[in-house]
Amino acid sequence: MKGYNIAVVGVGAVGEELLRVLSQTSLPINDIKVLARASREVEVEGRTYSVRETKPEEFDGVDIALFAGTERASELFAKEAVKRGAIVIDNSATFRLERDVPLVVPEVNPEDLDWHKGLIANPNCSTIQMVVALKPLYDRSRIRRIFAATYQAVSGTGRDAIAELRQQSLLQLVHSEEVKMTYAYPYRIAFNLIPQIGSFNDLGYTSEEMKMVQETHKILHDPEIKITATCVRVPVFNCHSEAVYIETEEKITAEEAREILRRAPGIKVIDEPSPLSGRSYPMPIDADGRDEVFVGRIREDPFVERGLHLWIVADNLRKGAALNAVQIAEEMHRRGLLGK
Ligand SMILES: NC(=O)c1ccc[n+]([C@@H]2O[C@H](COP(=O)([O-])OP(=O)(O)OC[C@H]3O[C@@H](n4cnc5c(N)ncnc54)[C@H](OP(=O)(O)O)[C@@H]3O)[C@@H](O)[C@H]2O)c1
Repeated sequence: MKGYNIAVVGVGAVGEELLRVLSQTSLPINDIKVLARASREVEVEGRTYSVRETKPEEFDGVDIALFAGTERASELFAKEAVKRGAIVIDNSATFRLERDVPLVVPEVNPEDLDWHKGLIANPNCSTIQMVVALKPLYDRSRIRRIFAATYQAVSGTGRDAIAELRQQSLLQLVHSEEVKMTYAYPYRIAFNLIPQIGSFNDLGYTSEEMKMVQETHKILHDPEIKITATCVRVPVFNCHSEAVYIETEEKITAEEAREILRRAPGIKVIDEPSPLSGRSYPMPIDADGRDEVFVGRIREDPFVERGLHLWIVADNLRKGAALNAVQIAEEMHRRGLLGK
């Protein structure tokens, strides 16, 4: 079989990771074309790619277009790419809630790929890692309520935010200079926390928090789940962490939850809390560069019969974006949905 012609649109934090993941995929590939705003050369994993300016005609002959540009890039070129015959897998928020666009996490709702119309959306990074961890529990007992508090790394904002945290940390810590200028965030992020990701709605929730609500409803096909979230940006370079509390219809004990999650695809449980054995919980430094969603601190609520706490950590650039997008392409290939 001839391999697929792939276009990667955007070569920032997610685009670079996409090239890394594509170098490791089993998907048959004929060619990888890299498109962005400005043409230049980039090197990823020892391979040099010539980046070309994104134009509609660049999508002629492309089988799979993986979008990792800004929302503007997706608005301008995603539907154009579909018109020219490409299957588009889009990392931006642009089309996620459109009715005829499947929003897919392969471990959770791969069957939604079957009704695609050329464009598939990749969910938000905080949503992906949460639903990977919650779906196996949901299959055991319906989840009625979710409270999430997130601790989100700066890589989730893109390459400029990574550079900003590095620069502010150097200024503040090494040179003892006070940081006055900020670009990626409204406030200093080094040695600080910012309890706002995105813009506020009338009820005081941010757009990131609402993404976790609406996308989880769509992916789990259950708009009845009562979900609220508080999303916080933290001075961590990579990997998002989440403290998630759920209430289920039937009681699931902590031990049963650990067993269910140990058997579930894409999950690694690190959870043996013991005063003798020392630390046994996942942290961002454990998840960096890894494919799995890590779960720990699983414990029952002593006051609520069907309440369970979980701590969920994942690499937001990999499972939260690039890896999930490539896994969607792999799943479509397996299902014979890619037409080659
Ligand atoms: N970072 C994450 O963890 C994460 C997770 C899930 C989803 N996402 C989404 O993934 C997308 C990329 O995020 P990122 O973090 O990689 O951002 P980034 O580091 O800021 O990179 C943005 C890329 O988009 C390209 N671009 C901008 N405008 C464009 C246009 N009009 N046409 C073509 N390319 C254009 C830029 O091109 P130049 O290089 O030429 O400037 C750059 O390569 C965003 O939609 C983001 O919301 C990110």
